[in-house]
Amino acid sequence: MMMIPTPRIFAATVILVAASAAAQEPVTQRPNAGVNPAERTRAALGMGTRPDAEAAKRGAPVYASNCSFCHGPSARGAEGPSLLTSDVVLGDDHGEKLVSFLQQGRPSKGMPAFERLPPTDLKDVTEFLHQQIENYTNRGDYKVANILVGDPAKGKAAFDAKCSQCHSVSGDLAHVGAKFKPLDLQRNWISPPRNSPTRTVTATATSSTGTVSGTLTRLDDFRVDITDAAGKVVRIDRTAGTKLTINDPLARHMEMVPSLMDDDIHNMTAYLEKQK
Ligand code: HEC
Ligand code: HEC
Repeated sequence: MMMIPTPRIFAATVILVAASAAAQEPVTQRPNAGVNPAERTRAALGMGTRPDAEAAKRGAPVYASNCSFCHGPSARGAEGPSLLTSDVVLGDDHGEKLVSFLQQGRPSKGMPAFERLPPTDLKDVTEFLHQQIENYTNRGDYKVANILVGDPAKGKAAFDAKCSQCHSVSGDLAHVGAKFKPLDLQRNWISPPRNSPTRTVTATATSSTGTVSGTLTRLDDFRVDITDAAGKVVRIDRTAGTKLTINDPLARHMEMVPSLMDDDIHNMTAYLEKQK
């Protein structure tokens, strides 16, 4: 569906008027009753339709491996522009325009064409982008789905099973609950930001021109850039003969994301939040 500003603004006005009318006179029939705060925020902000959360989860790793180098891990922009404020993204609801945009790209301006990624993957990426916008803008959601609704005991069991081989709440994650507000805590454990040298992705590529090792600075289906120890950027085309080994310290987190159920997420966050 096209994003047509006028009807949305109109809808938002109606809701605001209805809300203030309700505040003035305690009438029994409130038009907005039953509409949850997240949906009201959505209407008031003129946001598009609700993203498909399942598809967004599937899209997360696709985004991470194809787009995040240029647009940043949560699409806030890096070398490429922020996608949270992009008209191209905001003008799309469920990939009906964005998928074909991604298939064509804007190669002359540094945005590659992703015609070789399956359309279903591209559709999932668009839902991932819409979900990012949702997460940053729709604060109504945070109030409704209070983030600390999980069961800390179940969270502990999951932590012992899935995380303890690499982390400890008395060691590297001690006091983690005191360091972050719940929402940031949750974001941080699901997808730790790459703002530390210990989280740098390194790679080794072997092609007909030889072997290069160093920091991975760009990666897409067609091309890889490796910055070697001397700071020189080596560009390698990903042809059939190219062997690429990537060492990503956060790979386990990336792999984990699509398998997480809402309950797992809430339980884990509730447990980590108790580590004051
Ligand atoms: C090699 C770097 C690179 C990669 C990889 C990349 N992009 Fe881009 N992208 C760019 C640049 C640079 C632009 C700005 C192009 C321009 O100036 O028109 C851009 C523009 C865009 C835009 C349009 C923004 C606007 O409002 O004009 C969207 C949407 C987008 N990219 C999405 C994606 C998605 C989704 C992926 C992964 C499937 C991706 N990009 C991968 C570099 C990249
Ligand atoms: C295979 C090892 C591994 C597993 C399993 C793993 N992590 Fe991590 N985790 C890491 C690494 C490596 C980092 C980055 C550490 C760094 O850069 O200091 C990290 C970072 C983090 C951070 C960010 C810490 C900070 O200081 O910003 C949190 C929180 C976290 N992990 C929580 C979890 C949780 C919860 C689980 C289980 C669901 C988990 N991790 C599973 C290896 C792992």
